[in-house]
Amino acid sequence: MTHASSRISGVRSVALSVPDLQTTCDFFTKTWGLELAESREGIHYFKGTGSDAFLISLRQSNGPAKLIDVTLRVRSLQAIEEIKAHLGSDGTVISQTAPLNEPGGGVACIISDKVGRIYKLVFDDLQNEAAEEQKDRPIRLAHVVLNSDEIAVTQKFYEDVFDFSLSDRTKIMAFMRCNNDHHSIAFGDTDNNALNHIAFLVPDLDSVMRGGGRLKDAGFPIAWGPGRHGPGNNTFNYFVGPHDIVVEYTSEVEQINDDYKAGSPSDWTWPPGRIDQWGISPMPNQTLKDAQKKVFFDSPKV
Ligand SMILES: [Fe+2]
Repeated sequence: MTHASSRISGVRSVALSVPDLQTTCDFFTKTWGLELAESREGIHYFKGTGSDAFLISLRQSNGPAKLIDVTLRVRSLQAIEEIKAHLGSDGTVISQTAPLNEPGGGVACIISDKVGRIYKLVFDDLQNEAAEEQKDRPIRLAHVVLNSDEIAVTQKFYEDVFDFSLSDRTKIMAFMRCNNDHHSIAFGDTDNNALNHIAFLVPDLDSVMRGGGRLKDAGFPIAWGPGRHGPGNNTFNYFVGPHDIVVEYTSEVEQINDDYKAGSPSDWTWPPGRIDQWGISPMPNQTLKDAQKKVFFDSPKV
């Protein structure tokens, strides 16, 4: 079979720095449902129930929360070389392929694009035997959404450099895939290049719904949801976590392959007042919209 991307097999993890490390660690373990995998050299690594060594890492920042990198798992060492070859003048190699000192290990090359999005390209990281899925607990990352103030350029970068495929383009989003998930990365068509949100796959719709109640009880009310998206057909609840990090529980992500016909904005329209399939949730609140523009990539550490 052919893969949607010949170079990238999935989005593995996201690294963040936060001003209040303890509060954020507590959020991701006690409330969000991750487990501390390991702490190493001041960085805390949190895993889900799936096979990835970790899904989120957190370290101390001195200012607002920052995105350190989005980690993509590559299909081969050769894929890293292909990515570097296609990067050309559209980005920079920050560090050449070298062993990683983090849970899962493996090797990684770090690159950035022209506007400073930082990608860690990991290969040969150890994957745990996946534990049994547990209700309410995240299994793995489902997708990461990044804002783009030049969405056509960003889409082309993903197509040319990472060999992603466009799944759907709506008026405000471009959904890109690298495997059978409808999307692993999406771009929000907006006026900056911040992190929009991080989505975690949970086992089922009940886990998405119960997550809404659990987060509400913990002081993090649903900012948008519950609902079912158009593109991807996945269910959702969105929350504004500590330091304006926006997180989503999602389930039932549509599985697609080569014969999927990419939709365009005219294929994805809603009746007035409706932006998801169910129509039971209020519109995304302002707190969510504001938070989705606040967490930027940190400057790369060379
Ligand atoms: Fe999402």
